[in-house]
Amino acid sequence: MSPQPTGQEASVVVPEAPVTSGDTPIAKAAEAAVGVRGAAKREAWPRPNRCRIMTIANQKGGVGKTTTAVNLAASLSQHGIRVLVIDLDPQGNASTALDVDHHVGVDSVYHVLVEELPMTEVVREVEGMPGLYCAPASIDLAGAEIELVPLVARENRLMRAIEALDTATFDYVLIDCPPSLGLLTVNALAAAEEVLIPIQCEYYALEGLEQLLRTVEMVRGHLNPKLRISTILLTMYDGRTRLATQVAEDVRSHFGDVVLQTIIPRSVRVSEAPSYGQSVITYDPASSGAVAYAEAARELAYRAVTS
Ligand SMILES: Nc1ncnc2c1ncn2[C@@H]1O[C@H](COP(=O)(O)OP(=O)(O)OP(=O)(O)O)[C@@H](O)[C@H]1O
Ligand SMILES: [Mg+2]
Repeated sequence: MSPQPTGQEASVVVPEAPVTSGDTPIAKAAEAAVGVRGAAKREAWPRPNRCRIMTIANQKGGVGKTTTAVNLAASLSQHGIRVLVIDLDPQGNASTALDVDHHVGVDSVYHVLVEELPMTEVVREVEGMPGLYCAPASIDLAGAEIELVPLVARENRLMRAIEALDTATFDYVLIDCPPSLGLLTVNALAAAEEVLIPIQCEYYALEGLEQLLRTVEMVRGHLNPKLRISTILLTMYDGRTRLATQVAEDVRSHFGDVVLQTIIPRSVRVSEAPSYGQSVITYDPASSGAVAYAEAARELAYRAVTS
């Protein structure tokens, strides 16, 4: 069956790739020809006046939180922007994708939250990616949800750790949350000014979103009045299905301008990249997923200037 055309497609930046395989040699050659690969051609993107602290949250699992954190961060850093990724998920997927050591025993975000180790002690520069830094998560962090409970100001521990960090060193801090609305995610929401919600273009995507929005409201009301949902990113778009298009339209009509124009397509390269300890931005820069994430990052950077 051929893809169903929709009116939506005209108004969004959907990388061509999801309709066919997308990561074909021809697509790569075409994208390479327009300069995707050339570091020399990379323009400097605007840096925000002060550090943007963004929490990437959605309690639904596997919607692309980590992939989004890692690839937006990698793209931004390639354009002269200094980015810290804080891995707040005990799974440590962002640390794996950025190839930052996070085995048990390594000082990590767990020690920052529970033992008040300064954040600077755990931040590592990502090899081969100047300007990109990661505060890794180890599996210890799984215990933090419980260990934080009796501690003073348990919801504000990440906020305090980030406050003590010299945020002038970074243009962006991206916090990758676990798939839950527990204390770790609440800490991330309390520490940020912006929430970025990745939404997977599939049937159940909007289920549970209400609960996330309520949690954001609760944190805004009680802990962090500056918090706002600034960005929604549609992920894993499969242009062959009408359903994906329908979900994208629903999200857009519900959330309006906070939804980035760029939609991230499903791309095999995106899912392969972490096993090489890389973002797709470096693993296969001309792939449809890399091109889309670079475009989403560019939107994010320019929106900061105009909003
Ligand atoms: N655009 C994409 N195309 C293909 N695969 C993708 C894409 N985005 C993410 N994936 C894959 O989907 C899976 C889930 O993505 P990811 O780990 O980023 O989600 P998550 O929301 O962080 O998950 P969790 O809730 O477990 O933390 C991963 O295997 C990832 O490689
Ligand atoms: Mg994740």
